[in-house]
Amino acid sequence: MRVLIVGGGGREHALAWKVAQSSRVSEVHVAPGNAGTATEPKVKNVAIAADDVGSLLMHAQENLIDLTIVGPEAPLVLGIVDQFTAAGLRCFGPTAKAARLEGSKAYAKAFFARHHLPTAAYRTFTQDNFDAQWVHNQRLPMVVKADGLAAGKGVVIADTHAQVIEASLAMFTGQFGAAGKEIVIEEFLLGEEASFIAMVDGTHVLPLATSQDHKRLATGDAGPNTGGMGAYSPAPVVTPLIHERIMNEVMLPTVRALAAEGTPYTGFLYAGVMIDANGTPNVLEFNCRFGDPETQPVLIRLQSDLTLLVEAALEGRLDEVQAQWDSRSAVGVVLAAGGYPTSAQLGQRIHGLDAAATQPGKVFHAGTVHRDGQTLTHGGRVLCATALGNTVSDARLAAYALVNLIAFEGMQFRTDIGHLAVAREQRLSTP
Ligand code: AMP
Ligand code: GLY
Repeated sequence: MRVLIVGGGGREHALAWKVAQSSRVSEVHVAPGNAGTATEPKVKNVAIAADDVGSLLMHAQENLIDLTIVGPEAPLVLGIVDQFTAAGLRCFGPTAKAARLEGSKAYAKAFFARHHLPTAAYRTFTQDNFDAQWVHNQRLPMVVKADGLAAGKGVVIADTHAQVIEASLAMFTGQFGAAGKEIVIEEFLLGEEASFIAMVDGTHVLPLATSQDHKRLATGDAGPNTGGMGAYSPAPVVTPLIHERIMNEVMLPTVRALAAEGTPYTGFLYAGVMIDANGTPNVLEFNCRFGDPETQPVLIRLQSDLTLLVEAALEGRLDEVQAQWDSRSAVGVVLAAGGYPTSAQLGQRIHGLDAAATQPGKVFHAGTVHRDGQTLTHGGRVLCATALGNTVSDARLAAYALVNLIAFEGMQFRTDIGHLAVAREQRLSTP
């Protein structure tokens, strides 16, 4: 079969790499892909932007694509699944209506409230009804979020009331374009975060391996929020008991509620949860897609054929399949461009990729491009060095061994990916 992967980041490189390993798959097209997908066996890039849904549909029809898997949120929110399905093509992801869970934080918060999902207390505002007095009466820190899509950057954790007001006004006046016309202000939650990502077929939920992302730019969880600077899988904070709570208190009620509201959900469904001291999994957000960079360490551990799981989901049979996982842990370290997340420096030559390719693990590409025989940086997050190990500590050593071979001007990365899991492992190994 021929598979189309929509997107061009690290997540899509991992998806294309994984799908191409299936003996059922003859060809994988990636739109638009990157320098990494361009060199994978059986994989070719197609020069169509991920949000150009009309051209993607034409490409899929002309090239007899059997199955499309959508990476990023933008085409989902634009209705790629609705359009492909109307044309009789199989496309894995939620419809535009179901994708609103990620596309609008105000919609999502109202959904959580309606269905009594555990989440932070909140209010929504527009510039017209903004209430500075209310802000001054709230406990700090507070969290300010742009309503719409802002590539993971539309969230400000404010330590003073003045910062809340400043961040709100910046959003109202166009810092994130139309995405900030409405904002959500919510209570700051304590706890440890985890990414809980599942495949959903409208009714059934097949949880994938757990993972944890590192949203802040710098080592020690310092600096601004980013799209994610590294991830590992599994996340030991999700104990079997917490896994069960997330399924029963978050995932299953959400999938049931979406179906009951007439917007049944098919696709990857990603709950960002903050697990508090009582083990309550408070929902921070839902994403209507696989995580980036969580996909890289999760898929490197997946032993099952992803195309079979996706087909089962499209046919409403997820209750009949199981996903097999490598029992080892995986760590992925993101190498970002200088200036990321504000203004990434593009066009820098990347050194060391050939040497890294001879080592265990896999360097997934994100913002890269081939030009005149060289691989250049072409986005904020450039690469994700991903490796397996018997423990998170071992996987981390192997991932940083890859990182140490790679260099480009301005390269930024965190030196502590997996630190919470490593600290847990160290506590367990010291009597
Ligand atoms: P979001 O896009 O809503 O997931 O927010 C991005 C990041 O900001 C999350 O991954 C958290 O690290 C942090 N964050 C968001 N909301 C809260 C909250 N209510 N309390 C504490 N941290 C939060
Ligand atoms: N890594 C966070 C996300 O994919 O939204």
